[in-house]
Order: sequence, then C-alpha cells, then structure tokens
Amino acid sequence: MKVAVDPDPSLVYRPDMEPEAAKDKGSFRNYTSGPLLDRVFTTYKLMHTWQTVDFVRRKHAQFGSFSYKRMTVMEAVDMLDALVDESDPDVDFPNSFHAFQTAEGIRKAHPDKDWFHLAGLLHDLGKVLALAGEPQWAVVGDTFPVGCRPQSSVLFWDSTFQDNPDLQDPLYSTELGMYQPHCGLENVLMSWGHDEYMYQMMKFNKFSLPPEAFYIIRFHSFYPWHTGGDYQQLCDEQDLAMLPWVQEFNKFDLYTKSSDLPDVDKLRPYYQGLIDKYCPGVLHW
Ligand SMILES: [Fe+2]
Ligand SMILES: [Fe+2]
Repeated sequence: MKVAVDPDPSLVYRPDMEPEAAKDKGSFRNYTSGPLLDRVFTTYKLMHTWQTVDFVRRKHAQFGSFSYKRMTVMEAVDMLDALVDESDPDVDFPNSFHAFQTAEGIRKAHPDKDWFHLAGLLHDLGKVLALAGEPQWAVVGDTFPVGCRPQSSVLFWDSTFQDNPDLQDPLYSTELGMYQPHCGLENVLMSWGHDEYMYQMMKFNKFSLPPEAFYIIRFHSFYPWHTGGDYQQLCDEQDLAMLPWVQEFNKFDLYTKSSDLPDVDKLRPYYQGLIDKYCPGVLHW
C-alpha cells in the first residue's frame, strides 16, 4: 500500500492533479464493462426488485429510533474498514479510505469551508448498516424515488425492474406516481440506503452542520437527478438551489477514488477537531 506524501497529504487527492494511481475521469462509473461488473449488476438487480414503497416505509420504522448502536463518528469511520461496497465499479478497498479521500479533496479545493470537509468524511457513514446485517442492495448504490415509475437514467432501468411489484401498481407505475408536481425532494420517498439513513441520523443527533451538508448527504447517491437530469417534475426551488452543492460534492466523491491510499493517522487530528465542533460525543446510530 502506498501512503500519501509529506508535507500535505491532501495534495495527491486533488482531482486536477491526476495522481499516478488515479484513473482518467471518463473511466469512472463504467457500468458496461470491467472486472467488478457482475457484482455490481447483481446488487442493482436485487435493489430494483425489492425496493418498494412498503419496503422503504418499513426500513424507516426499523431504523428511525436509532437504537442499533452507540458510538462516536470516528468509531463509525473505523467500522467501515470492514466494508467493501459491492455496488461500486471503481473501488475495491475498504470504505474508510474513501471517506478520507473525499474529505481531503474537498479540503484542498475549499479550504475555508470546514463543514464541507466534514460532510466529505461523513457522507458514507450510513454504510454501517451493511455491518448491521442489512443486505448491500438496501445500503449502497445509486438511489431513486419509489412510488413512481423509474426514469431512464436510473442504472440498468430497462433490465432490472421487471419483478418489482410496485410497477404493477396503477398509481406507482405512473410518471408522477404518488406525488404532486414539484412537491420537493424532501417530500419524496427515496429508495432506502446509506444516504437517507445518515441524513436521518444527523437530524436525530442534532448535528450543527449547515443545511447544505444535510442536503448533500441525503441526495449524494441520487445520480439519476444530480447527474442524469431526470425527476425534474418532483423538484421545487430548494432542490434547484441545492443542486450545485450536490454536484460540487460529487466531483470529490467520484474523482478522488484512487488505490493510492491516504495516511489516515496523519489526518485524524484535523477531522477529530471538526467532529468535536459539529457532532461531538457518543451518538445514537
Ligand atoms: Fe455514498
Ligand atoms: Fe462516497
């Protein structure tokens, strides 16, 4: 394993620096070929079969009281060392490195926005659900609204939804489904996974981060919207105002993925300071 260089470990994660071990931008999120594709497709097939309105409501009820575990943010980061995301065609190493890579990429580009650095570290912590026994298809991967017909920028949309019972439902199978036009994404039931869980967890534990951080974390995996441009009929003005933040965040979530792994122990004190400022102590998960 390579470690980051002195004096500033974050330099190697600048998206515009193209570190030696990084891929060029066009080679990320390749869902048509590559060594991890079978594993990725299988995860999406299960997700698109079983994520229904009923399922999502049950998961909100199951995890919404945050009685799964009590731990600090840094303990959750360390927990992710045990996790490899099976929906991700770009990463085959433990997720804790990805947390620091994302955060450091943001820190380099936005040195004055410490809340944004912390959002980078936090954004995937909801993946601890996979270590609580939840299947990966209910934790990782791109998200999409349930309760309405999937739009064409949802990954594998034409080959993975045929067994989803909601698509036989006369209401849920329409373009607007159970929603009013421009109701706002905050009123949309998204497929259940690490985004929604972490957003709810941050609210429950009263993180003192700005609304942009909450929004970024809640919708960072909603690629069909923030990158695909679909689901405009559900968006309100707040969503349009927040979209640039989600897209700015996405650059670092995606393009800092590199097998050139950071020296986490050097970075820890800085991020512990941010945790102490915005979300201290032992939290409810
Ligand atoms: Fe994520
Ligand atoms: Fe991520």
